[in-house]
Amino acid sequence: MQHHLRQTQLLGTDEGSIARAAQILRDGGLVAFPTETVYGLGADATNGAAVAGIYAAKQRPSFNPLISHVATLDQAREQGHFDEQASRLADALWPGPLTLVVPVAAGCRVSDLARAGLDTIALRIPAHPVAQALLQATERPVAAPSANLSGTVSPTTARHVMDGLSGRIDAVVDAGPCSVGLESTIVACAGGRPRILRPGGVPREAIEQLVGPLAEAAQADAPLLAPGMLASHYAPNARMRLEALDTVPGEAVLDFSGQLSAFAARAHAYADLSPDGDLARAAANLFATMRELDATGASAIAVAPVPRSGLGEAINDRLTRAAADR
Ligand code: TXA
Ligand code: MG
Repeated sequence: MQHHLRQTQLLGTDEGSIARAAQILRDGGLVAFPTETVYGLGADATNGAAVAGIYAAKQRPSFNPLISHVATLDQAREQGHFDEQASRLADALWPGPLTLVVPVAAGCRVSDLARAGLDTIALRIPAHPVAQALLQATERPVAAPSANLSGTVSPTTARHVMDGLSGRIDAVVDAGPCSVGLESTIVACAGGRPRILRPGGVPREAIEQLVGPLAEAAQADAPLLAPGMLASHYAPNARMRLEALDTVPGEAVLDFSGQLSAFAARAHAYADLSPDGDLARAAANLFATMRELDATGASAIAVAPVPRSGLGEAINDRLTRAAADR
């Protein structure tokens, strides 16, 4: 697909800037905006040509289905059908770092392209006040994957967005770093027991507390259920060596709770996701720290073990993807 170079405006979060960003979206343009999880690359979800621009700008190899972002539950219900369990999750956890995959509603206006032709739709109400303001001003669903080139780590600052997409999109709304730092948890409520398609910013435990035990994500249909979840989705250049208890000379170190601090002095580079072992802190720092260590040119990054409970499930999921062969 031919891509025309654009001037990318860096916008603030004042009312005038939000109005401008909303107008660009309504006119079919591409605007990167902050959510509490990561920065999203937004387009009018009802406009197929605008949505096609997302894939071109990201250089996504295939038309994966995208998350449609809305401001209110009423708007979400216009696009998707919420059964009792979906309603319970939406009531308790929206706005927030949760995406629900539900059957498409009869009146759904989201383009086929944004849904990749599926009979389900992924919906999210983000909590970030700037995302809320932008969605309210845009007055239509906004399709938005993470605002990075395909195959690179998701952006948690406007600078990360510009590093990958400057000249390829119309604007970036800069509201500083994202507080959660990991993408939303995706839960499918489309018949049968709800199931997690992607661990993320809402821990499994919080979801099970609301709807009971979740269905196991069957390995065989995982690619079909969450297309685009490539093993190597979050790939840095450096090789990632997980569950490291020591280091090899020349490696950079991605530590958690000081487990590898004895190796800090002779490491190629050293960073601790959370010296006091706070998983929320570690999640918020994960992508930015992976970028920083990768930028040092280290050939490999030794990663300390991270507990698997709570947000640790999503952190380990992203680390495993970053370590996958490609
Ligand atoms: O935190 C997030 O979720 C961020 C922010 C911007 O909201 N967005 C994000 O989007 O991570 P993206 O495109 O990188 O991931 C969307 C995931 C994909 O893995 C896609 O396959 C899945 O959602 N998805 C979308 N629609 C689906 C559907 N109908 N059925 C199953 N999976 C779906
Ligand atoms: Mg992504």
